Amino acid sequence: MATQQKVMVLGAAGQVGTDLVHALVQRGYDVIATDIRPADQVDLPAPYEVVDATSADNLRAAVERHGVQTVYHLVAMLSATAERFPHRGWTLNMQSLFHVLELAREKRLRVFWPSSIAAFGPTTPKDAVPQHTITEPTTVYGISKVAGELWTQYYHLKYGVDVRSVRFPGLIGWRAMPGGGTTDYAVDIFYHALREGSYTCFLGEDVVLPMMYMPDAVRGVIELMEAPAERLTVRTSYNIAGFSFAPRDIAEAIRRRIPDFTIRYAPDHRDAIARTWPHTIDDTAARTDWGWAPAYDLDTMVTDMLARIQQKAVSSLP
Ligand code: SER
Repeated sequence: MATQQKVMVLGAAGQVGTDLVHALVQRGYDVIATDIRPADQVDLPAPYEVVDATSADNLRAAVERHGVQTVYHLVAMLSATAERFPHRGWTLNMQSLFHVLELAREKRLRVFWPSSIAAFGPTTPKDAVPQHTITEPTTVYGISKVAGELWTQYYHLKYGVDVRSVRFPGLIGWRAMPGGGTTDYAVDIFYHALREGSYTCFLGEDVVLPMMYMPDAVRGVIELMEAPAERLTVRTSYNIAGFSFAPRDIAEAIRRRIPDFTIRYAPDHRDAIARTWPHTIDDTAARTDWGWAPAYDLDTMVTDMLARIQQKAVSSLP
């Protein structure tokens, strides 16, 4: 395996980045973690540097200084926030991707960049969404993901850049909080259940969405990046599935462990976004090409989340 490689994580202080840095370090990679947050606000098991991924010069200098071979590009404004700031969302998501792709072309870097179920939209089939399907998203975030998928494929076909991608479902993890996403409720609910015994959900009770537990997500990313290039048939972005549930399902799973837990529903603008996304995903291509398989289901995820969050000081958390 390609360990001892110098890898740079952009967006390392974010929800996915935090777990990915832990997983890469554990796997023996030489990691340089970067984000725009000041170093004193970041707690990661790897050297950390402030890098603004929207600055090509900043990015280039950091890549050169550290002799980076692979970049994990996790910088993004998520779906709900990008609806409030459409142009800023588009600029952040696309500009940073272009900078990384250009640098990868020039320096033969390998790249991971995540797409999302947000690449799908109201005209996509709701169930068992095929790898190749209609992608007509109605959010800025989704548009940036579809465009990004096509650009990554373009850089691969035209310039031979080894850029790989998965369409993440909603991601649930305990190490770092998500921010500005439509699927964030599935993380928030645990903190409120443990602290207050109740939660007000910003999605309606029946909105089924594809979800995944973070340990599966970061393992999937690393497995994809370690897969032999000749096995890969998708250079836009691979569908990957974990499990699907609605707010009432996760509430029920929590209630089985915290019997007094109560939930009420106050759907807001994020409910409308969620209803444009599919329920379930067909990830056959990822399974066939690089052996993708999730380990967690709803119940094992809920058990682990509750235990992990309880191990942290619940009262000091958001
Ligand atoms: N979890 C993301 C969001 O809600 C989707 O990729 O924006």
